[in-house]
Amino acid sequence: MNPSDYLSSLFSLTGKVAVVIGGTGELCGAMAEGLAGAGAEVVLVGRNADKAHARLAKISGAGGKAWFHSAEATSKAELEALRDAVVARSGRIDIVINGAGVNSATPYFDITEEEFDRIVRVNLKGVFLGCQVFGKHLVEQGQGGSIINLGSMSGVVPLSRVFTYSATKGAVHNLSLNLAREWAPHKVRVNVLVPGFFPAEQNRKVLTPDRVTSIMGHTPMKRFGEARELIGATLLLASDGAGSFITGEELIVDGGYHAMTI
Ligand SMILES: NC(=O)c1ccc[n+]([C@@H]2O[C@H](COP(=O)([O-])OP(=O)(O)OC[C@H]3O[C@@H](n4cnc5c(N)ncnc54)[C@H](OP(=O)(O)O)[C@@H]3O)[C@@H](O)[C@H]2O)c1
Repeated sequence: MNPSDYLSSLFSLTGKVAVVIGGTGELCGAMAEGLAGAGAEVVLVGRNADKAHARLAKISGAGGKAWFHSAEATSKAELEALRDAVVARSGRIDIVINGAGVNSATPYFDITEEEFDRIVRVNLKGVFLGCQVFGKHLVEQGQGGSIINLGSMSGVVPLSRVFTYSATKGAVHNLSLNLAREWAPHKVRVNVLVPGFFPAEQNRKVLTPDRVTSIMGHTPMKRFGEARELIGATLLLASDGAGSFITGEELIVDGGYHAMTI
């Protein structure tokens, strides 16, 4: 390939199929728009059909191709049915985003076992199952692929108040690096996308005024991120062109939050 063809193909996802679990949400929905804009056929996955259809309208309005499949991220049977539906309708799977997530700011001594189990089930078991079902498919398909798991700053450094969430995200980072090592020989890359602070549905109740002040005091860019600012990093990790030698990476997009100590 000559240098200019190589450069123009770096971020192209033409002919690729992307499954975006959590694609009905704010961040993964924006990431899905980016994937579709780069040429991928996108499958939005979540449970809320209204949110899905609003996002599908934006994608198709911009000339992209996408459809919705309702699935519970914590059910292996539903994820297997999703995999089969995507293969039947779209013919292949190349990119998988595991982004379903829930949060809570309950004080540590008040966290019930029910709440702990619920957050672990979605944030950790959901990613574990997504990697198992789709990782097996990508390895067996034999044409490589890219898995992007949604991590968090709280998986890198413990953030106050979100105890269970932080523990699950720490585990997602660990699992992702483990799988990157296992599947590199199969050209299946596994990376963690690490957003800093982006206002969204799951963290709205966590972003109290005192916490916002604290976050801004610790963010050199002095603002929250906008969901579309994750698209560049998503395409880098998703593309077998631009991201061909990137696996086991924890790619932080946070306006400098992690670089600030005193
Ligand atoms: N916002 C941030 O600042 C931030 C920072 C770091 C990491 N993250 C991570 O980024 C990811 C996306 O979060 P977001 O901020 O965009 O939140 P969001 O808008 O609330 O989106 C989360 C999505 O997860 C889906 N979901 C939740 N439980 C599910 C389940 N059991 N089965 C299937 N889908 C389920 C929901 O879809 P339905 O409603 O359709 O079921 C929802 O659309 C999460 O993993 C989150 O932890 C966010």
